Amino acid sequence: MKRKILAVYPGSFDPPTNGHLNIVKRTLQLFPKLVIAITQNVHKTPLFSLKERLQLLKKITSNLDNVEVISFSGLLVDYLKVVDAFVVIRGLRVFSDFERELQMALINRKLNKNIETVFLIPDHSYTFLSSSAVKELAMFGTNVSEFVPKYVEIALKKRIYCNLK
Ligand code: PNS
Repeated sequence: MKRKILAVYPGSFDPPTNGHLNIVKRTLQLFPKLVIAITQNVHKTPLFSLKERLQLLKKITSNLDNVEVISFSGLLVDYLKVVDAFVVIRGLRVFSDFERELQMALINRKLNKNIETVFLIPDHSYTFLSSSAVKELAMFGTNVSEFVPKYVEIALKKRIYCNLK
């Protein structure tokens, strides 16, 4: 019998965007089950806590079957071992993503030779979209409803408004 492969989509998702959701939906066309694994990117200072990001992602994927959202700390390879997974999903938007993504994929493979990173390309309408851009636009009061689910838009407004007060 063919093994049912679990895909793991790690990221900081601060906040999750429609581009992330596009990658989630594409993954579900290829793999029977997906775990969205939220963690801290040590190079970034988050706007939302891990707990808040967990809540946001759970809410915006609640209509999707076969998706689980979790958070983890430490190395991705260690988390993958815990859930007995070897497929890592990452989105590739533009050429400039590639260098960092290749480095991460090769480091993960160095740490565990069985890890395979699968790069998915989001719909072209999301190639310019990033969590950082969304945060910056929202901080300057720009309407980001085109780029994030409604629930995330509300959370962004609340966070930015409360921080400014
Ligand atoms: O959404 P991001 O911020 O680009 O995601 C990066 C992330 C969280 C996937 C990456 O920083 C990561 O895997 N962190 C866990 C720690 C780890 O395993 N590091 C080794 C790979 S460089």
